[in-house]
Amino acid sequence: MIGQKIIQLESVDSTNNYVANLISANNIEHGTVILADNQTNGRGQRGNVWDSKPGENLIFSLYAKPENLSVNKQFFLSMAIALACNKTLQNLNIESKIKWPNDILIGNKKIAGILIENQLKSTNIEHSIIGIGFNINEKGLNKIGGISLIDLKGKFTPILEFTFQLIQQIKFYWNKVYLLQFKEIKAEYLSNLWLLNEDANFEINNEIKIGKIIDITEEGRLLIDFKNQIQAFDFKEISFLDRNTL
Ligand code: BTN
Repeated sequence: MIGQKIIQLESVDSTNNYVANLISANNIEHGTVILADNQTNGRGQRGNVWDSKPGENLIFSLYAKPENLSVNKQFFLSMAIALACNKTLQNLNIESKIKWPNDILIGNKKIAGILIENQLKSTNIEHSIIGIGFNINEKGLNKIGGISLIDLKGKFTPILEFTFQLIQQIKFYWNKVYLLQFKEIKAEYLSNLWLLNEDANFEINNEIKIGKIIDITEEGRLLIDFKNQIQAFDFKEISFLDRNTL
């Protein structure tokens, strides 16, 4: 069961690496959660570094073993985890949105990032390492486009309490993936997607273009309408520019 076993570490290179090592040693059960106060080599998407002040934020990795989830459905797992993070905030009356593919934003500031590393066996996902970094009690992140719960609520949040709420939501959305409720997952993801159907600036091949996100494909590509010409993008092919530059 997800969250049945929780391992708390003081310091580790990366909780995702820690899970990967346990997988290699064949020494981890489905649903195990690793928490750390500090990471010395926290990793983000696109090869970025994930920095977090020791003891102030949630550093979380979940090991999950999907049964029979094919590789071409892996974006549904990514959407489910983003929805779980987003819903945890919405339950605290915080208006959050998902920035494609799976950042969590308040306004245009990032409060959480997700790094999912899937290990495949033929056409299925054999092991999934689901890493989440959530800004909780660290102040001053606005300088780097971030925000934390303390900035929003003006008070300290116990990290473990927040973690239990997040785990509840992950269980709920994991179950939807397990039950292959793909249409529902996609519909909920789209209804929480930042900038859906709004004019926004994108950078594509060093060029700035204005378009509207209209949909995503099954594989998780972003569909953008540039004045009636629709194009699909992979994660590395496009970046969002700040809305204020419109
Ligand atoms: C991103 O937005 O770039 C993804 C950030 C993911 C950070 C988390 S923190 C826990 C886990 N361990 C890591 O090294 N990265 C993820």
